[in-house]
Amino acid sequence: MASFDFNYGPRLHCGAGGCGRLPTLAGEGAVLLVTDAGVRKLGLCDMALQAFAAAGREVIVFDAVEADPSADTVNAATEAGREGGVGAVVGLGGGSPMDVAKLAAYLLGSGDQLDAIYGVEMAKGRRLPLALVPTTAGTGSEATPVAIVTVGGAEKKGVVAQALYGDWAVLDAELTLGLPPHVTAATGVDAMVHAIEAYTSARLKNPLSDAMAERALRLLSTHIRTAVHDGGSRDAREAMLLGAHLAGIAFANAPVAGVHALAYPLGGHFHVPHGLSNALMLPHVLDHNMAGALELYADLALMIDPSLAAQGRQGRARGLIESLRQVIADCGLPDRLSAVGVEAEHLNLLASEAMKQQRLLINNPVAITQDDALRLYQAAL
Ligand SMILES: NC(=O)c1ccc[n+]([C@@H]2O[C@H](COP(=O)([O-])OP(=O)(O)OC[C@H]3O[C@@H](n4cnc5c(N)ncnc54)[C@H](O)[C@@H]3O)[C@@H](O)[C@H]2O)c1
Ligand SMILES: [Fe+2]
Repeated sequence: MASFDFNYGPRLHCGAGGCGRLPTLAGEGAVLLVTDAGVRKLGLCDMALQAFAAAGREVIVFDAVEADPSADTVNAATEAGREGGVGAVVGLGGGSPMDVAKLAAYLLGSGDQLDAIYGVEMAKGRRLPLALVPTTAGTGSEATPVAIVTVGGAEKKGVVAQALYGDWAVLDAELTLGLPPHVTAATGVDAMVHAIEAYTSARLKNPLSDAMAERALRLLSTHIRTAVHDGGSRDAREAMLLGAHLAGIAFANAPVAGVHALAYPLGGHFHVPHGLSNALMLPHVLDHNMAGALELYADLALMIDPSLAAQGRQGRARGLIESLRQVIADCGLPDRLSAVGVEAEHLNLLASEAMKQQRLLINNPVAITQDDALRLYQAAL
Protein backbone atom coordinates (compact mmCIF):
# COMPACT_ATOMS: atom_id res chain seq x y z
CA MET A 1 0.00 0.00 0.00
CA ALA A 2 1.29 3.49 -0.84
CA SER A 3 1.87 5.77 2.16
CA PHE A 4 -0.76 8.43 2.80
CA ASP A 5 -1.83 11.15 5.23
CA PHE A 6 -5.38 11.39 6.52
CA ASN A 7 -7.27 14.03 8.49
CA TYR A 8 -10.53 12.87 10.10
CA GLY A 9 -11.74 16.46 10.39
CA PRO A 10 -13.31 18.23 13.35
CA ARG A 11 -14.71 16.55 16.44
CA LEU A 12 -18.34 15.67 15.91
CA HIS A 13 -21.51 15.99 17.93
CA CYS A 14 -24.45 14.33 16.20
CA GLY A 15 -28.01 14.41 17.52
CA ALA A 16 -31.29 16.28 17.83
CA GLY A 17 -30.96 19.57 19.71
CA GLY A 18 -27.21 19.64 19.18
CA CYS A 19 -27.17 23.45 18.94
CA GLY A 20 -27.88 23.57 22.67
CA ARG A 21 -24.30 22.33 23.18
CA LEU A 22 -22.69 25.14 21.17
CA PRO A 23 -21.67 27.35 24.14
CA THR A 24 -19.41 24.57 25.41
CA LEU A 25 -18.05 23.77 21.92
CA ALA A 26 -17.34 27.26 20.59
CA GLY A 27 -14.47 28.84 22.52
CA GLU A 28 -15.03 31.69 24.97
CA GLY A 29 -16.24 35.29 25.00
CA ALA A 30 -18.46 36.98 22.44
CA VAL A 31 -19.43 34.89 19.40
CA LEU A 32 -19.80 35.80 15.73
CA LEU A 33 -22.72 33.72 14.40
CA VAL A 34 -22.55 33.60 10.59
CA THR A 35 -25.75 32.56 8.82
CA ASP A 36 -28.03 33.77 6.01
CA ALA A 37 -31.29 35.69 6.14
CA GLY A 38 -33.37 32.71 4.96
CA VAL A 39 -31.97 30.34 7.57
CA ARG A 40 -32.43 32.96 10.31
CA LYS A 41 -36.02 33.70 9.28
CA LEU A 42 -36.86 30.00 9.47
CA GLY A 43 -35.86 30.08 13.14
CA LEU A 44 -32.98 27.66 12.65
CA CYS A 45 -30.64 29.87 14.71
CA ASP A 46 -33.03 30.16 17.66
CA MET A 47 -31.76 27.25 19.72
CA ALA A 48 -28.15 28.40 19.31
CA LEU A 49 -29.07 31.98 20.26
CA GLN A 50 -31.00 30.84 23.34
CA ALA A 51 -28.15 28.58 24.44
CA PHE A 52 -25.57 31.38 24.15
CA ALA A 53 -27.90 33.79 26.00
CA ALA A 54 -28.39 31.25 28.78
CA ALA A 55 -24.61 30.87 29.02
CA GLY A 56 -24.22 34.66 29.29
CA ARG A 57 -22.35 34.91 25.99
CA GLU A 58 -22.89 37.88 23.70
CA VAL A 59 -23.70 36.95 20.08
CA ILE A 60 -23.09 39.14 17.03
CA VAL A 61 -25.26 37.77 14.23
CA PHE A 62 -24.03 38.29 10.67
CA ASP A 63 -26.83 37.10 8.37
CA ALA A 64 -25.95 38.90 5.12
CA VAL A 65 -24.45 35.85 3.39
CA GLU A 66 -25.65 35.27 -0.17
CA ALA A 67 -25.49 31.97 -2.11
CA ASP A 68 -21.99 31.63 -3.59
CA PRO A 69 -20.63 34.30 -1.21
CA SER A 70 -18.39 37.09 -2.47
CA ALA A 71 -15.08 38.31 -1.10
CA ASP A 72 -16.89 41.48 0.06
CA THR A 73 -19.23 39.36 2.19
CA VAL A 74 -16.31 37.54 3.80
CA ASN A 75 -14.64 40.87 4.59
CA ALA A 76 -17.91 42.33 5.98
CA ALA A 77 -18.42 39.32 8.28
CA THR A 78 -14.82 39.60 9.45
CA GLU A 79 -15.28 43.31 10.15
CA ALA A 80 -18.47 42.60 12.16
CA GLY A 81 -16.50 40.13 14.26
CA ARG A 82 -13.64 42.57 14.74
CA GLU A 83 -15.96 45.37 15.85
CA GLY A 84 -17.67 43.01 18.29
CA GLY A 85 -14.34 41.83 19.71
CA VAL A 86 -15.42 38.20 19.33
CA GLY A 87 -13.44 35.28 20.70
CA ALA A 88 -15.15 32.54 18.66
CA VAL A 89 -17.10 31.94 15.44
CA VAL A 90 -20.07 29.71 14.63
CA GLY A 91 -21.18 29.00 11.04
CA LEU A 92 -24.82 27.88 10.83
CA GLY A 93 -26.42 27.25 7.44
CA GLY A 94 -25.55 25.70 4.10
CA GLY A 95 -22.12 25.75 2.52
CA SER A 96 -22.30 29.49 1.90
CA PRO A 97 -22.54 30.63 5.57
CA MET A 98 -20.19 27.87 6.75
CA ASP A 99 -17.51 28.90 4.23
CA VAL A 100 -17.81 32.56 5.27
CA ALA A 101 -17.58 31.55 8.95
CA LYS A 102 -14.43 29.51 8.29
CA LEU A 103 -12.73 32.39 6.54
CA ALA A 104 -13.87 34.99 9.09
CA ALA A 105 -12.52 32.81 11.93
CA TYR A 106 -9.21 32.55 10.09
CA LEU A 107 -8.92 36.24 9.14
CA LEU A 108 -9.87 37.35 12.67
CA GLY A 109 -7.41 34.99 14.33
CA SER A 110 -4.47 35.44 11.97
CA GLY A 111 -4.81 39.07 10.91
CA ASP A 112 -4.17 37.94 7.28
CA GLN A 113 -5.92 39.50 4.28
CA LEU A 114 -8.28 37.35 2.15
CA ASP A 115 -6.46 38.25 -1.11
CA ALA A 116 -3.27 36.66 0.20
CA ILE A 117 -4.65 33.21 1.07
CA TYR A 118 -6.34 31.88 -2.11
CA GLY A 119 -4.89 28.53 -3.18
CA VAL A 120 -3.56 25.53 -1.31
CA GLU A 121 -1.95 25.97 2.16
CA MET A 122 -1.42 29.72 1.80
CA ALA A 123 -3.25 30.33 5.10
CA LYS A 124 -0.62 29.39 7.66
CA GLY A 125 -1.74 31.44 10.67
CA ARG A 126 -4.11 30.55 13.52
CA ARG A 127 -7.85 31.03 13.49
CA LEU A 128 -10.35 31.73 16.28
CA PRO A 129 -12.24 28.76 17.81
CA LEU A 130 -14.80 27.59 15.25
CA ALA A 131 -17.92 25.38 15.30
CA LEU A 132 -19.92 24.54 12.16
CA VAL A 133 -23.57 23.50 11.90
CA PRO A 134 -24.87 22.45 8.45
CA THR A 135 -28.52 23.03 7.55
CA THR A 136 -28.19 21.51 4.07
CA ALA A 137 -27.02 17.94 3.43
CA GLY A 138 -24.61 18.75 0.63
CA THR A 139 -21.30 20.55 0.75
CA GLY A 140 -19.82 18.75 3.74
CA SER A 141 -18.09 22.08 4.43
CA GLU A 142 -18.34 21.35 8.18
CA ALA A 143 -15.82 18.55 7.58
CA THR A 144 -13.43 20.12 5.08
CA PRO A 145 -10.43 22.51 5.01
CA VAL A 146 -12.00 24.28 2.01
CA ALA A 147 -13.87 27.57 1.56
CA ILE A 148 -15.11 28.84 -1.81
CA VAL A 149 -15.42 32.55 -2.61
CA THR A 150 -16.78 34.29 -5.73
CA VAL A 151 -14.26 36.89 -6.84
CA GLY A 152 -14.80 39.70 -9.35
CA GLY A 153 -18.45 38.73 -9.79
CA ALA A 154 -17.84 35.48 -11.67
CA GLU A 155 -14.74 33.46 -10.75
CA LYS A 156 -14.91 30.90 -7.93
CA LYS A 157 -11.69 30.76 -5.96
CA GLY A 158 -10.85 28.30 -3.21
CA VAL A 159 -8.95 28.65 0.04
CA VAL A 160 -7.67 25.22 1.04
CA ALA A 161 -5.71 25.04 4.29
CA GLN A 162 -5.53 22.88 7.40
CA ALA A 163 -6.32 26.03 9.40
CA LEU A 164 -9.86 26.01 7.99
CA TYR A 165 -10.90 22.77 9.68
CA GLY A 166 -13.42 23.59 12.40
CA ASP A 167 -12.93 22.48 16.01
CA TRP A 168 -16.42 20.97 16.13
CA ALA A 169 -19.12 19.99 13.66
CA VAL A 170 -22.69 19.65 14.96
CA LEU A 171 -25.03 17.45 12.92
CA ASP A 172 -28.72 17.84 13.75
CA ALA A 173 -31.02 16.48 11.04
CA GLU A 174 -33.97 18.39 12.58
CA LEU A 175 -32.47 21.54 11.03
CA THR A 176 -32.84 20.03 7.55
CA LEU A 177 -36.49 18.85 7.80
CA GLY A 178 -37.81 21.97 6.06
CA LEU A 179 -35.27 22.09 3.25
CA PRO A 180 -37.33 22.56 0.04
CA PRO A 181 -37.31 19.68 -2.50
CA HIS A 182 -35.22 21.46 -5.14
CA VAL A 183 -32.53 22.45 -2.59
CA THR A 184 -32.59 18.94 -1.10
CA ALA A 185 -32.10 17.47 -4.57
CA ALA A 186 -29.31 19.79 -5.71
CA THR A 187 -27.35 19.70 -2.44
CA GLY A 188 -27.80 15.92 -2.21
CA VAL A 189 -26.36 15.43 -5.70
CA ASP A 190 -23.45 17.72 -4.74
CA ALA A 191 -22.67 15.35 -1.87
CA MET A 192 -22.90 12.33 -4.20
CA VAL A 193 -20.43 14.02 -6.57
CA HIS A 194 -18.05 14.60 -3.63
CA ALA A 195 -18.10 10.87 -2.90
CA ILE A 196 -17.64 9.87 -6.56
CA GLU A 197 -14.83 12.35 -7.27
CA ALA A 198 -13.02 11.47 -4.02
CA TYR A 199 -13.15 7.78 -4.98
CA THR A 200 -11.51 8.46 -8.36
CA SER A 201 -9.25 11.34 -7.22
CA ALA A 202 -6.02 10.97 -9.21
CA ARG A 203 -3.42 11.95 -6.60
CA LEU A 204 -4.56 11.54 -3.01
CA LYS A 205 -7.17 8.77 -2.97
CA ASN A 206 -6.45 6.28 -0.18
CA PRO A 207 -8.16 3.37 1.59
CA LEU A 208 -9.80 5.59 4.24
CA SER A 209 -11.17 8.15 1.78
CA ASP A 210 -12.43 5.19 -0.27
CA ALA A 211 -14.25 3.73 2.74
CA MET A 212 -15.88 7.09 3.53
CA ALA A 213 -16.84 7.65 -0.11
CA GLU A 214 -18.39 4.19 -0.52
CA ARG A 215 -20.47 4.49 2.60
CA ALA A 216 -21.45 8.05 1.71
CA LEU A 217 -22.62 7.11 -1.77
CA ARG A 218 -24.64 4.20 -0.43
CA LEU A 219 -26.39 6.36 2.18
CA LEU A 220 -27.03 9.26 -0.19
CA SER A 221 -28.28 7.24 -3.15
CA THR A 222 -30.55 5.11 -0.95
CA HIS A 223 -32.23 8.09 0.74
CA ILE A 224 -32.15 11.04 -1.66
CA ARG A 225 -35.50 10.29 -3.32
CA THR A 226 -37.31 10.02 0.03
CA ALA A 227 -35.63 13.18 1.32
CA VAL A 228 -36.79 15.07 -1.78
CA HIS A 229 -40.36 13.74 -1.96
CA ASP A 230 -41.06 13.19 1.75
CA GLY A 231 -38.96 15.90 3.36
CA GLY A 232 -40.37 15.24 6.84
CA SER A 233 -38.78 11.78 6.97
CA ARG A 234 -36.29 11.96 9.83
CA ASP A 235 -34.62 8.72 8.78
CA ALA A 236 -33.96 10.00 5.27
CA ARG A 237 -32.76 13.40 6.54
CA GLU A 238 -30.37 11.78 9.04
CA ALA A 239 -28.95 9.49 6.38
CA MET A 240 -28.46 12.43 3.99
CA LEU A 241 -26.72 14.56 6.62
CA LEU A 242 -24.43 11.72 7.63
CA GLY A 243 -23.76 10.83 3.99
CA ALA A 244 -22.87 14.43 3.12
CA HIS A 245 -20.56 14.59 6.16
CA LEU A 246 -18.78 11.34 5.22
CA ALA A 247 -18.42 12.54 1.62
CA GLY A 248 -16.93 15.76 3.02
CA ILE A 249 -14.31 13.82 5.02
CA ALA A 250 -13.56 11.78 1.88
CA PHE A 251 -12.96 14.74 -0.41
CA ALA A 252 -11.16 16.73 2.28
CA ASN A 253 -8.46 14.09 1.86
CA ALA A 254 -8.94 13.04 -1.78
CA PRO A 255 -9.97 16.26 -3.57
CA VAL A 256 -12.75 16.69 -6.12
CA ALA A 257 -12.00 17.06 -9.80
CA GLY A 258 -13.48 17.55 -13.29
CA VAL A 259 -17.18 17.69 -12.42
CA HIS A 260 -16.55 20.53 -9.97
CA ALA A 261 -14.10 22.26 -12.35
CA LEU A 262 -16.76 22.40 -15.08
CA ALA A 263 -19.55 23.22 -12.63
CA TYR A 264 -17.91 26.30 -11.11
CA PRO A 265 -18.17 28.55 -14.21
CA LEU A 266 -21.92 27.80 -14.31
CA GLY A 267 -22.24 29.11 -10.76
CA GLY A 268 -19.97 32.06 -11.41
CA HIS A 269 -21.51 33.27 -14.70
CA PHE A 270 -25.09 32.01 -14.57
CA HIS A 271 -25.74 31.80 -10.80
CA VAL A 272 -26.76 28.18 -11.13
CA PRO A 273 -26.81 26.71 -7.56
CA HIS A 274 -23.66 24.73 -6.83
CA GLY A 275 -25.35 21.32 -6.57
CA LEU A 276 -27.39 21.82 -9.73
CA SER A 277 -24.26 22.85 -11.67
CA ASN A 278 -22.68 19.59 -10.60
CA ALA A 279 -25.78 17.57 -11.54
CA LEU A 280 -25.80 19.12 -15.03
CA MET A 281 -22.17 18.18 -15.77
CA LEU A 282 -21.98 14.88 -13.86
CA PRO A 283 -23.00 12.29 -16.50
CA HIS A 284 -20.94 13.96 -19.23
CA VAL A 285 -17.71 14.19 -17.22
CA LEU A 286 -18.14 10.59 -16.06
CA ASP A 287 -18.59 9.48 -19.69
CA HIS A 288 -15.33 11.28 -20.53
CA ASN A 289 -13.58 9.63 -17.58
CA MET A 290 -14.58 6.07 -18.49
CA ALA A 291 -11.25 5.46 -20.25
CA GLY A 292 -9.33 5.92 -16.99
CA ALA A 293 -11.87 5.22 -14.26
CA LEU A 294 -13.92 2.27 -15.55
CA GLU A 295 -12.74 -0.12 -12.84
CA LEU A 296 -13.47 2.37 -10.04
CA TYR A 297 -16.87 3.25 -11.47
CA ALA A 298 -17.65 -0.48 -11.66
CA ASP A 299 -16.92 -0.73 -7.91
CA LEU A 300 -18.96 2.36 -7.06
CA ALA A 301 -21.91 1.12 -9.12
CA LEU A 302 -22.62 -1.50 -6.48
CA MET A 303 -23.05 1.21 -3.83
CA ILE A 304 -25.88 2.77 -5.80
CA ASP A 305 -27.46 -0.33 -7.37
CA PRO A 306 -26.44 -3.74 -5.95
CA SER A 307 -28.33 -5.51 -8.77
CA LEU A 308 -25.56 -4.38 -11.15
CA ALA A 309 -23.41 -7.16 -9.60
CA ALA A 310 -24.91 -9.45 -12.25
CA GLN A 311 -23.14 -7.48 -14.98
CA GLY A 312 -19.52 -7.34 -16.17
CA ARG A 313 -17.18 -4.45 -15.30
CA GLN A 314 -18.21 -2.35 -18.30
CA GLY A 315 -21.89 -2.93 -17.70
CA ARG A 316 -21.51 -1.94 -14.06
CA ALA A 317 -19.61 1.25 -14.89
CA ARG A 318 -22.21 2.22 -17.51
CA GLY A 319 -24.91 1.30 -14.99
CA LEU A 320 -23.43 3.80 -12.52
CA ILE A 321 -23.84 6.64 -15.01
CA GLU A 322 -27.36 5.52 -15.93
CA SER A 323 -28.36 5.22 -12.26
CA LEU A 324 -27.08 8.74 -11.61
CA ARG A 325 -29.08 10.08 -14.55
CA GLN A 326 -32.12 8.37 -13.06
CA VAL A 327 -31.53 9.91 -9.61
CA ILE A 328 -31.25 13.37 -11.18
CA ALA A 329 -34.50 12.85 -13.13
CA ASP A 330 -36.39 11.31 -10.20
CA CYS A 331 -35.42 14.26 -8.01
CA GLY A 332 -36.88 16.69 -10.54
CA LEU A 333 -33.61 18.38 -11.51
CA PRO A 334 -33.14 19.58 -15.10
CA ASP A 335 -30.56 17.71 -17.18
CA ARG A 336 -29.74 20.31 -19.84
CA LEU A 337 -27.75 23.54 -19.65
CA SER A 338 -30.35 25.19 -21.85
CA ALA A 339 -32.82 24.84 -18.96
CA VAL A 340 -30.73 27.23 -16.83
CA GLY A 341 -30.26 29.92 -19.46
CA VAL A 342 -27.01 28.75 -21.07
CA GLU A 343 -26.85 29.10 -24.88
CA ALA A 344 -24.43 27.81 -27.52
CA GLU A 345 -22.70 31.19 -27.73
CA HIS A 346 -21.66 30.93 -24.05
CA LEU A 347 -19.84 27.62 -24.30
CA ASN A 348 -16.43 28.96 -25.36
CA LEU A 349 -16.38 31.28 -22.37
CA LEU A 350 -17.37 28.44 -20.02
CA ALA A 351 -14.64 26.17 -21.44
CA SER A 352 -11.93 28.80 -21.01
CA GLU A 353 -13.17 29.60 -17.48
CA ALA A 354 -13.08 25.90 -16.55
CA MET A 355 -9.37 25.85 -17.43
CA LYS A 356 -8.75 28.25 -14.51
CA GLN A 357 -9.72 25.43 -12.12
CA GLN A 358 -6.34 23.67 -12.33
CA ARG A 359 -6.49 23.04 -8.56
CA LEU A 360 -9.35 20.64 -9.34
CA LEU A 361 -8.47 19.45 -12.85
CA ILE A 362 -5.22 17.88 -11.63
CA ASN A 363 -7.32 15.45 -9.58
CA ASN A 364 -9.36 14.19 -12.54
CA PRO A 365 -8.64 10.57 -13.54
CA VAL A 366 -8.46 11.58 -17.23
CA ALA A 367 -7.01 14.88 -18.55
CA ILE A 368 -9.57 17.54 -19.56
CA THR A 369 -8.27 20.01 -22.16
CA GLN A 370 -10.11 23.17 -23.17
CA ASP A 371 -11.35 21.32 -26.30
CA ASP A 372 -12.62 18.50 -24.09
CA ALA A 373 -14.38 20.99 -21.82
CA LEU A 374 -16.07 22.61 -24.82
CA ARG A 375 -17.21 19.19 -26.08
CA LEU A 376 -18.58 18.32 -22.62
CA TYR A 377 -20.51 21.59 -22.37
CA GLN A 378 -21.87 20.98 -25.89
CA ALA A 379 -23.01 17.50 -24.84
CA ALA A 380 -24.75 18.99 -21.80
CA LEU A 381 -26.46 21.82 -23.72
N1 LIG B 1 -16.30 24.29 1.70
C1 LIG B 1 -16.52 23.24 0.96
O1 LIG B 1 -15.90 22.21 1.14
C2 LIG B 1 -17.55 23.35 -0.14
C3 LIG B 1 -17.88 22.21 -0.88
C4 LIG B 1 -18.87 22.33 -1.86
C5 LIG B 1 -19.48 23.55 -2.09
N2 LIG B 1 -19.11 24.65 -1.35
C6 LIG B 1 -19.75 25.98 -1.54
O2 LIG B 1 -20.93 25.99 -0.73
C7 LIG B 1 -21.90 26.86 -1.33
C8 LIG B 1 -23.20 26.13 -1.56
O3 LIG B 1 -23.72 25.70 -0.33
P1 LIG B 1 -25.17 24.97 -0.26
O4 LIG B 1 -25.34 24.14 -1.47
O5 LIG B 1 -25.25 24.30 1.06
O6 LIG B 1 -26.20 26.17 -0.39
P2 LIG B 1 -26.35 27.59 0.35
O7 LIG B 1 -25.65 27.64 1.64
O8 LIG B 1 -25.96 28.64 -0.66
O9 LIG B 1 -27.93 27.63 0.63
C9 LIG B 1 -28.85 27.56 -0.45
C10 LIG B 1 -30.21 28.06 -0.02
O10 LIG B 1 -30.81 27.14 0.88
C11 LIG B 1 -31.37 27.83 2.00
N3 LIG B 1 -31.33 26.92 3.15
C12 LIG B 1 -30.26 26.45 3.81
N4 LIG B 1 -30.64 25.60 4.77
C13 LIG B 1 -31.98 25.54 4.74
C14 LIG B 1 -32.97 24.82 5.50
N5 LIG B 1 -32.63 23.95 6.45
N6 LIG B 1 -34.27 25.01 5.20
C15 LIG B 1 -34.64 25.83 4.19
N7 LIG B 1 -33.76 26.54 3.44
C16 LIG B 1 -32.45 26.39 3.71
C17 LIG B 1 -30.49 29.06 2.17
O11 LIG B 1 -31.16 30.10 2.85
C18 LIG B 1 -30.19 29.41 0.71
O12 LIG B 1 -31.23 30.20 0.18
C19 LIG B 1 -21.27 27.35 -2.64
O13 LIG B 1 -20.67 28.61 -2.46
C20 LIG B 1 -20.23 26.28 -2.93
O14 LIG B 1 -19.18 26.75 -3.77
C21 LIG B 1 -18.18 24.55 -0.37
FE1 LIG C 1 -19.42 20.50 -4.20
